[in-house]
Amino acid sequence: MNLDVLKKIAKQMVAPGKGIIAADESSGTCKKRFDAVGVECTEENRRLYRTMMFETPSLEQFVSGVILYDETIRQKGSDGTAVSEILSKKGILPGIKVDAGAKDLALHPDEKVTEGLDGLRERLAEYKGFGAKFAKWRAVITIGENIPSEACIFANAHALARYAALCQETDIVPIVEPEVLIDGDHTIERCYEVTETTLEEVFEELNREGVAPEGTILKASMVIAGKKSPKQSSVEEVAEATLRVLNATVPKNLAGVVFLSGGQGDEQATAHLNKMNQSGKQPWPLSFSYSRAIQNPVLKKWAENPAANVKAAQDTLLFRSKMNALATQGKYSDEMEKDRPY
Ligand code: 13P
Repeated sequence: MNLDVLKKIAKQMVAPGKGIIAADESSGTCKKRFDAVGVECTEENRRLYRTMMFETPSLEQFVSGVILYDETIRQKGSDGTAVSEILSKKGILPGIKVDAGAKDLALHPDEKVTEGLDGLRERLAEYKGFGAKFAKWRAVITIGENIPSEACIFANAHALARYAALCQETDIVPIVEPEVLIDGDHTIERCYEVTETTLEEVFEELNREGVAPEGTILKASMVIAGKKSPKQSSVEEVAEATLRVLNATVPKNLAGVVFLSGGQGDEQATAHLNKMNQSGKQPWPLSFSYSRAIQNPVLKKWAENPAANVKAAQDTLLFRSKMNALATQGKYSDEMEKDRPY
């Protein structure tokens, strides 16, 4: 492990005024998103859609990195340039999702454990050859009656730590993502408790496995009431509770925190990040690593007419990326949405 290399990559990932686009949907998830907008989910359509995004002029102004899926990192743009090269030529870091998905946790109904450790050392070496500078592993924690169990939190935290150690061994920065799902009718207080327990366990396991916080990025879910909760959280409540849980659990020397959007609305996710960054200096940069909250309007625009709407879809991507980039500096306001190109 070369800590200087890891620190340099991590710093670039959360550079001021920039964030990460998650474009690492598995083919199954991608099918759901394409079905919803009436586009056939073929390998060629996935390639066209994603390379359209990556080729967006000036994307590097607001985007530091892109998380790719295994299929995508092996693909090429229409002029034959490898996807990771399309990105790195612009100064955008290519990243790669390396987990094999959340599977049912044995003896624990309704709970998941993320798999993918077998052969991971070899896969990381291959991805490094493709130009990957960072990786992502997503664990899923569900809130419900009597869940999450200790077993679920521990199994996921341990897997995240073993993944992160393997990444650092090969000088790839791990994004450690323990996602507490927004699904359900739980209160924001319950989300806080579960997030706190989960993050405590994750950082305990990372520490036990010898993972260096200075070369690690946390991808966190925000503390927020469940989607079906009768009492929805305000922007202020989400920002306050999320900052409180991070300050209570995250080592001060962690390289950075990026957020997932988790099913929040596009503008809502931007507003939450903005509010946090307006709430005084934190020990770590706070940025974004959204998939849906950035891509939803982009995919919609592109799907209307994939051949004719390339520029319109790219303008949409650039706009949402800019709004989120402004939010990393607390400089976003909802007034800016009136200039939306979509
Ligand atoms: P969402 O922003 O759509 O939650 O996706 C982020 C992500 O990468 C989940 O792993």
